[in-house]
Amino acid sequence: MRTLVTYMTQTGNTKRIAEAIYGEIEGEKDIKPIGEVKNLEGYDLTFIGFPVLQFDIPPNVKKFITENTAGKNIAIFMTHAVPEGTEVIHSWTGSAEQAAAGATVLGSFDCQGELAQPVIDMLLKADDPQMKAFGEMGPSTKGQPDESRVQKAKEFAKEIQAKI
Ligand SMILES: Cc1cc2nc3c(=O)[nH]c(=O)nc-3n(C[C@H](O)[C@H](O)[C@H](O)COP(=O)(O)O)c2cc1C
Repeated sequence: MRTLVTYMTQTGNTKRIAEAIYGEIEGEKDIKPIGEVKNLEGYDLTFIGFPVLQFDIPPNVKKFITENTAGKNIAIFMTHAVPEGTEVIHSWTGSAEQAAAGATVLGSFDCQGELAQPVIDMLLKADDPQMKAFGEMGPSTKGQPDESRVQKAKEFAKEIQAKI
């Protein structure tokens, strides 16, 4: 059994979740930023993680999923600024699953991730009211993902491995 955890991160939140998942993996395993992964050959299971950016999966991640996951077992994880349980999160999960149409998607995990201060400052100056609204919710995201989210990510990693 060989497992890959691959992720994109800008400010470290998704990386924190990726490392928590990686720590729970049994058997042979690798952890790499998405940009360093050529293909998924040789992996029985791949966890793919990203931050939600501008109401969707980052385009490079979508491309990676579309081009590499056909016929593979994968699991998705993402971080976002909105609180967990917000309705719109379904559309982001759906977008990832759509990109992975040829794969077996064993599950998905999402949790809140802190908006970094330079990002808050930038968003507050944006003309787009939706972006400005994100900037205003910045302080409520402080400290995420916290230890309880990290713990949930570890549980997720165990659940997914049990499915293989
Ligand atoms: C340019 C930009 C756009 C973002 N757009 C969204 C968004 O549409 N929805 C959301 O919930 N969070 C959004 N976020 C917040 C990030 O998804 C969140 O902070 C995430 O945890 C960052 O992960 P990272 O530290 O791994 O880069 C945005 C952040 C940035 C910088």
